[in-house]
Amino acid sequence: SDEEEEAEEYLFKVVIIGDSAVGKSNLLSRYARNEFNLHSKATIGVEFQTQTLDIEGKEVKAQIWDTAGQERFRAVTSAYYRGAFGALVVYDISRRSTFDSVPRWLHELDTHSDTTVARMLVGNKCDLANIREVSVEEGKSLAEAEGLFFIETSALDSTNVKTAFEIVIKEIY
Ligand code: GTP
Ligand code: MG
Repeated sequence: SDEEEEAEEYLFKVVIIGDSAVGKSNLLSRYARNEFNLHSKATIGVEFQTQTLDIEGKEVKAQIWDTAGQERFRAVTSAYYRGAFGALVVYDISRRSTFDSVPRWLHELDTHSDTTVARMLVGNKCDLANIREVSVEEGKSLAEAEGLFFIETSALDSTNVKTAFEIVIKEIY
């Protein structure tokens, strides 16, 4: 029916990518269920959550996909990216190696995505500022150079988690 078609128009797929243990699954569980797990296990395969938002009086559904950062636990890459309109590219501000991997993740996203993707660079674990290895300025300038939005978040204390997802979803819309 027309109603179904209209509902479908506002279902957006968003993917979360980044190295293992940067906090992808906890960002999603914080956003979708307001849950955080200090001892979460590495993701195996793919999981997703659907979140409904109100944007300008319209009901918008975001289907947010989360996969493993570790190569050996990952699902079929092309299927993961297919149809994605938004992406959160996550690193851990307390582990430089995860920031160094960002260009690799962006390359994979570019290679496999089939549309223009709204992209947000996310420096997670900003609650760990005392052991920070990547400055805010470095995050900002990489994002600027690559044409991404930029935000620092904490899935632990909830800082900017909702904002990170919603900037991407609103940009798609
Ligand atoms: P993979 O599934 O292996 O790709 O990892 P992931 O990116 O999904 O990481 P996950 O969410 O499982 O988190 C890894 C570890 O970091 C867990 O021990 C979390 O509790 C912790 N963690 C996640 N987000 C934060 C955060 O914002 N701050 C702090 N301090 N720890 C966090
Ligand atoms: Mg995970």
